[in-house]
Amino acid sequence: MIPPVLPTYNRAPLAFVKGAGSWLETGDGRRYLDLGAGIAVNALGHAAPELVAALTEQAQKLWHVSNVYTIPEQERLAAALVDRTFADTVFFTNSGTETAELAIKMARKFHHENGQPERIEFIAFEGAFHGRSTGAIAAAGSEKMVKGYGPLMPGFRQLPWGDAAAIREAITDRTCAVILEPIQGEGGIRPFPPALLKEIRALCDQTGTLLIFDEVQCGMGRTGRLFAHELSGVTPDIMMVAKGIGGGFPLGAVLATEHAAKAMSAGTHGSTYGGNPLACAVGLRVTEIVSEPAFLADVARKGAILRQGLESLVARHPETFTGVRGEGLMLGLHCTRAPADVVSAGYREGILTVAAADNVLRLLPALNIPDEDITEALSRLDKVAESLKAAA
Ligand SMILES: Cc1ncc(COP(=O)(O)O)c(C=O)c1O
Repeated sequence: MIPPVLPTYNRAPLAFVKGAGSWLETGDGRRYLDLGAGIAVNALGHAAPELVAALTEQAQKLWHVSNVYTIPEQERLAAALVDRTFADTVFFTNSGTETAELAIKMARKFHHENGQPERIEFIAFEGAFHGRSTGAIAAAGSEKMVKGYGPLMPGFRQLPWGDAAAIREAITDRTCAVILEPIQGEGGIRPFPPALLKEIRALCDQTGTLLIFDEVQCGMGRTGRLFAHELSGVTPDIMMVAKGIGGGFPLGAVLATEHAAKAMSAGTHGSTYGGNPLACAVGLRVTEIVSEPAFLADVARKGAILRQGLESLVARHPETFTGVRGEGLMLGLHCTRAPADVVSAGYREGILTVAAADNVLRLLPALNIPDEDITEALSRLDKVAESLKAAA
């Protein structure tokens, strides 16, 4: 019999009732060290006092009014994002998937209004993940995500990840936009080489193609930079942001240059909840905190500690781990076996990690994880590897 909750997830038998910092607790009092942070969402950990304060203060004033009206909290957050990035303008959503929808619509509308309605083709990459809407699955194109949902939205083409020759051949003056994650998350923590990002930017400029960066997972301080693309110095025309920006409150944002957004006039897009006062009050606090240079430097420092510890795990347990990749606190451990087995063994040792494609175990802790929790996490991962070895 189908359960009351539609069974689309392969859920672990763990139900948490409270959390603080990098720790989660089940109803029967078992504590777990959370290195997944809700898949890169709880940027400041669980029940972060600054965010609880921002949310409760706003909750006592105003929850929702509608985008029919001016929303000062939204304007403040948009200004904060514009101040800190390449962007001139921002649209707020409730999730990452909705940012994919708007990025796609904005790019097509741009060329339409520019007198080139035939420029509809998006170039995306194998291993990408942009969400679960019909547009986002068409963009990512993987068999697993699209099977049974056809006919798909036309105009999407996936190139092999990081294939420079294919990219040179594919981007032409008929392309609408290129969409990519500067560091693929679900695809297995794969950072796009900076030189290739530079070349893609140049090809886009030469052909009038828009460049969309999906920073839903790698953005908001995760790499030790406010946005991952800053590591390469390449800026996009349109950027998708979600996950960390709400610190656990549903919030997403599409950031764009004035040029890319110029066709988006009144009535061309909208959302009932997107950018509501509660979400924006929390989002502003998150943005202020994670964009502080000292905070970002600390993310990079913590990332280096975690990375070094993971490198020694690889050295100690070559039968399970073969390499480390990623940036800052967006790290992946390449495994010799299905990462899901490592995740399950982690449950037994009281540590939460996330599996990704390409045999990678993801480590995406809260950006303010205390150093002692990093040490504890490494020791628990060591026990995980020992237990897998003993069971082999
Ligand atoms: C890079 C990337 N883009 C888009 C999404 C979709 O975001 P959401 O699940 O909030 O709709 C995700 C979610 O994992 C993601 O990692």
